[in-house]
Amino acid sequence: MLAEISAGLAANHAHVSPKFLYDALGSRLFEAICELPEYYPTRTEAGIFAAHGEAIARAIGPGATLIDLGAGNCAKAASLFPLLQPAQYVAIDISADFLRESIERLQQRFPRIDMLGLGQDFSAGLDLPASVRTAQRLFFYPGSSIGNFTPDEAGAFLRRARAQCDTDGGLLIGIDLVKDSDVLDAAYDDALGVTAAFNLNLLRHLNVLAGADFDVRQWRHRGSFNAAQSRIEMHLEARHDLTVHWQGGQRSFQAHERIHTENSYKYRQSAAVGLLEQAGFQASEVWTDPQGWFAVIHARAIGN
Ligand code: AVI
Repeated sequence: MLAEISAGLAANHAHVSPKFLYDALGSRLFEAICELPEYYPTRTEAGIFAAHGEAIARAIGPGATLIDLGAGNCAKAASLFPLLQPAQYVAIDISADFLRESIERLQQRFPRIDMLGLGQDFSAGLDLPASVRTAQRLFFYPGSSIGNFTPDEAGAFLRRARAQCDTDGGLLIGIDLVKDSDVLDAAYDDALGVTAAFNLNLLRHLNVLAGADFDVRQWRHRGSFNAAQSRIEMHLEARHDLTVHWQGGQRSFQAHERIHTENSYKYRQSAAVGLLEQAGFQASEVWTDPQGWFAVIHARAIGN
């Protein structure tokens, strides 16, 4: 972890993986982002689940092994339990403590569902223990988290998920679609500054993880849509010339120099379906909201 952080900070264009945004406070700030009026993905996706939940459950069928990738507070999966009736729920999240609390609460609400929480960074590989059923594995990847990978990384990630399910398995995924850049810019640079706090909190996390001496007040949040790359880019920008030290390294930043902290790719629907197909899934149904801002796709695993 230290080597990864150190290499990113020392690179010509400094960068840090977005997975480090999610310490305990970062996870809570992300929950707050999801409540913001500007941040449309969460409520738009929830609206799709509410409007099409029965059709989604029909497409999937009861008794699935529901594997929730980046489960967080587990609320999205839980909202589908009554319709979906999974046999087993496997929640995976990098933020293990946060996940433990969420699973304990959920198990009390749904005592009949077998539940398992795994504190894992699944971005590089999925390590499922033998206690995870192999029957009817359904990877649940909502919230357009796939957008935080580059398209190549997303393809590789989906292929790894495909390799972990039989042909009775599949994927239920939420993908954010390309839209007006004003809507996108506001969603990632909100008036209250919650997204700014979420981004800046990464520096506090780096101070813990890498023994760095970032002073949060010396940095400002930047988040906007890069149309040529079809992605939101988040950066942290130095307010003035400064030097940062961490375990085994140091770097001087000039005023306005940036650390790239996150990409959030936005897809056209056809490109999203193509991405799934290249990874060995066949999109069986696509549900969108009336404005066509967000897509929920059920895709079946197809034979190799
Ligand atoms: C988790 N992920 C899908 C969010 C996104 O929209 O890319 C993370 C986020 N970054 C800033 N706001 C929300």
